Amino acid sequence: MNAASTPSIPHTAASAYAEAFVPESADAAAARAAAQSLGIGAVSPGTSTLLTFLARSLDARTVVEVGTGAGVASLALLLGMAEGTLTSIDTEPEHQATARRILVEAGIPSRRARLIAGPALQVLPKLSDGAYDLVFVDADPLEAVEYVEEALRLLRSGGLLVIYHALSGGRVADTGNEDDDTVIMREALAAVADAEDLSPVLLPVGDGVLVARRA
Ligand SMILES: C[S@@+](CC[C@H](N)C(=O)[O-])C[C@H]1O[C@@H](n2cnc3c(N)ncnc32)[C@H](O)[C@@H]1O
Repeated sequence: MNAASTPSIPHTAASAYAEAFVPESADAAAARAAAQSLGIGAVSPGTSTLLTFLARSLDARTVVEVGTGAGVASLALLLGMAEGTLTSIDTEPEHQATARRILVEAGIPSRRARLIAGPALQVLPKLSDGAYDLVFVDADPLEAVEYVEEALRLLRSGGLLVIYHALSGGRVADTGNEDDDTVIMREALAAVADAEDLSPVLLPVGDGVLVARRA
């Protein structure tokens, strides 16, 4: 999703306070500026904090990210990973080159981020079953249902699926909205809610973050 199609995030004083509760590092600010220069979206500051928290709480060592962008979320995930490798997929080599630069400048060794250029639905099937602690999704909203299916296969027992733009600027909750990406995000959320082996929670952080634990 590029900046032009990024849905606006509803802001209240309380949500702005929560988003800024943990201040961003200079490295994260540099990543955010790089995303802006490329004209692509990035997770909100509160979402970055949440990603770091989840990765750290889980002691995550194997993480898949769908949609590298300029590396804002990659940086947040790696900050929460004491060890191990982030595997991040993006169709755009230019975005990944920027993310690589951001990570190197933040002092993260190259071996800790495996950046794979290609369409997610071609790359994800090549990753190993049950081998990942966390799968984070922020790529093509029209493929959200397929990302859920792939994540279910990739996650180990106790692993987490995390989906950004889960509220899509409030449009997901607006039952009268039938935009393709909104309808598909609703379908993805329903698939997660209906999956017997997933325990979900939908958080109003950033543009909405769905977190689901695999049994
Ligand atoms: C909004 S950006 C991700 C931003 C990232 N989460 C961050 O916080 O920095 C979405 C990214 O998904 C990539 N993308 C879009 N469709 C894709 C697909 N089908 N497969 C892989 N990447 C895709 C875009 O090139 C873009 O870099």
